[in-house]
Amino acid sequence: MRECLITTKGLTREEIVEVLDYAAKIEKNPSSYYGNQSGKIIGLLFYEPSTRTRMSFETAIKRLGGDTISMGSVEMSSVAKGESLADTIRVVAGYADAIVLRHPKEGAAKMASGFIDIPLINAGDGAGQHPTQTLLDLYTIRKSAEKLDGLNIGVMGDLKYGRTVHSLSHAITKFDSRLNFISPEGLQLPDNVKYDLERSGSEVHQYTNLDEILSTLDILYVTRIQRERFPDEEEYRKVSGQYRINNKTLENAPKHLKIMHPLPRMDEISPEIDGSDHAIYIEQSHNGVAVRMALLDLMLKS
Ligand code: CP
Repeated sequence: MRECLITTKGLTREEIVEVLDYAAKIEKNPSSYYGNQSGKIIGLLFYEPSTRTRMSFETAIKRLGGDTISMGSVEMSSVAKGESLADTIRVVAGYADAIVLRHPKEGAAKMASGFIDIPLINAGDGAGQHPTQTLLDLYTIRKSAEKLDGLNIGVMGDLKYGRTVHSLSHAITKFDSRLNFISPEGLQLPDNVKYDLERSGSEVHQYTNLDEILSTLDILYVTRIQRERFPDEEEYRKVSGQYRINNKTLENAPKHLKIMHPLPRMDEISPEIDGSDHAIYIEQSHNGVAVRMALLDLMLKS
């Protein structure tokens, strides 16, 4: 496994499958991995809010026998005094064996990795990428569909600012599955992501109406409109609430359709779906522990 994980762009199919296979082994028999990383410290630098990513990384390293140190909230750290990311990351690299970084600026993880010589994992850089979310998304898809090839996958919502979408799209190009992008006008996939996908040989199928494609889908990956990334509240209001999944929306959905969401959700999936066989988003978030245990164990092996 590579030393830093910044983006899914450069990941090979073999590297992805290695993590997923290892996570499956860990999920089957977690206790036999306890203690593998005894004494190791992970530095958590979260410049943006997080529940799942931060807590599942904490759980993962603690289950492996290691521990975490955390900068805590930005307001309670020296970032509030104006300390630069470069200085903070170099300091924490002296305390930890690896760093997990979430930052509001696209490109921050790549930039930060250049200042240190310990592994750095990108836990989300603005509207850029969220590669460990992708690994757990792929793990969830494979667990549910028993394959990653030959699937028809719909990705719906804020495709412009949704970093989980960007990471997942790049990773899916390593498999023989079709991606269908459903979004309101103005929140389509950014040109640079579309260009990269097409350059890697993928066709980019874009829709504004879920009904055009719903009956053919195996997986529907729904995302939140990323309110915090909009430069203008009025622009957000124009598109918010345009897509809502409820029982009525799913009337023509295939029985086997699985609905995923990186969470947190706002109102894009009605709670009435939660108890249905379609909903796998809570299980998806739980899969983050096994996948992050696998990733950390592979990256910290020395
Ligand atoms: N999916 C995800 O990144 O969730 P958090 O923002 O809670 O970490």
